[in-house]
Amino acid sequence: MYEKELEAIQKAGRWRKREIYPSDLVDFASNDYLGFANDAKQMQKAYELMQSYNCYAPKASMLVNGYHPIHQYFEEKLCELNRFEGAIAVGSGFLANISLIEALVRKKDRLFMDEEYHASGILASRLLDASQVIVFKHNDPDDLQTKLKQYQSPSRNIIAIEGVYSMRGDIAPKAIFDIANQYEALLIVDEAHSSGVIGDNLLGIFDYYKLPIRPNYIKMGTLGKAYGSYGAYILASSEIISFLENRAKPIIYSTAPSLFDTALALVNLKKLYTQKERFIAKIQKRQKLVQKILGLELHSLILPIAQSSNQQALQNKQYLIQKGYLVGAIRQPTVEKPILRIIPRLGEAKTHLKAMLELLNSILLT
Ligand SMILES: Cc1ncc(COP(=O)(O)O)c(C=O)c1O
Repeated sequence: MYEKELEAIQKAGRWRKREIYPSDLVDFASNDYLGFANDAKQMQKAYELMQSYNCYAPKASMLVNGYHPIHQYFEEKLCELNRFEGAIAVGSGFLANISLIEALVRKKDRLFMDEEYHASGILASRLLDASQVIVFKHNDPDDLQTKLKQYQSPSRNIIAIEGVYSMRGDIAPKAIFDIANQYEALLIVDEAHSSGVIGDNLLGIFDYYKLPIRPNYIKMGTLGKAYGSYGAYILASSEIISFLENRAKPIIYSTAPSLFDTALALVNLKKLYTQKERFIAKIQKRQKLVQKILGLELHSLILPIAQSSNQQALQNKQYLIQKGYLVGAIRQPTVEKPILRIIPRLGEAKTHLKAMLELLNSILLT
């Protein structure tokens, strides 16, 4: 029934297939930035934490009977560390973006979204009236300002950006936060790739720019990346959290987030925070190694290497697999131009990173 469509995908070199890779490959492809995914001691701690309760499954929506003390404990910890007034655990980052954009942008409001915002936000924006959605150039405060001047709503204006962009690894400029404040706009920041990776306390972009938290700021974070688990959270003013509880369909009509995954993120967050200096030093060492070998300055733990075609991206990925290293080959339509997406994650030894970067350098030079 879909032969023609599949054929077209294949011809364009855009064929995707889920695969189980050999476990002995050195993993520079995953978003598990800090290496928690293989930390058996943390898994044990989460298991012990769960054993202190007598219910192990979320059972229902959080608005029925699925809200569990472990969710509450996790939300309180997030509020305390990030200095936001309110928090809510959400099933995944994808659902969190759908929740925020679909629920917060009401009929007379306008959404100003960075053109490279995550696919989940773009999908959610299609649920709105097309005239409500204004896309601005990637990380371009001037374009945002021009568009706000031209299209701002007398009702609410909502800006959506990422802290660290998932494909380029670049950081949103501080000027965007200033513009949001100047226009009294709500600012949604997707911190999927910045929480746990940037800032003096590894809390993400608000921490990185040392920003005092204001009622117009909304932070979304995922648990499937630096926090080494699965799920997501939203931090905002208590009023916005209440509104989401009352209006966001993925929160109201979906089973509450997994309890074990929340417990695992909680124990990982505690370790990350109490050992932040050690983690920061390790992140910086990896960034320095990339600078030394490839001459590229990294501000996050995402290293994109431009490729001339989808085929070249796949061939280079395959070549690196043969040498024992797994990296991501990201092609259109996920990105405009294909890249190798390399994550110099803490879960792999620096000696492996050095060897892989040297190999990469030799590919790039030929
Ligand atoms: C920037 C960004 N936002 C949201 C998501 C979705 O998060 P989740 O995987 O928890 O659904 C991702 C990727 O997974 C992402 O890269």
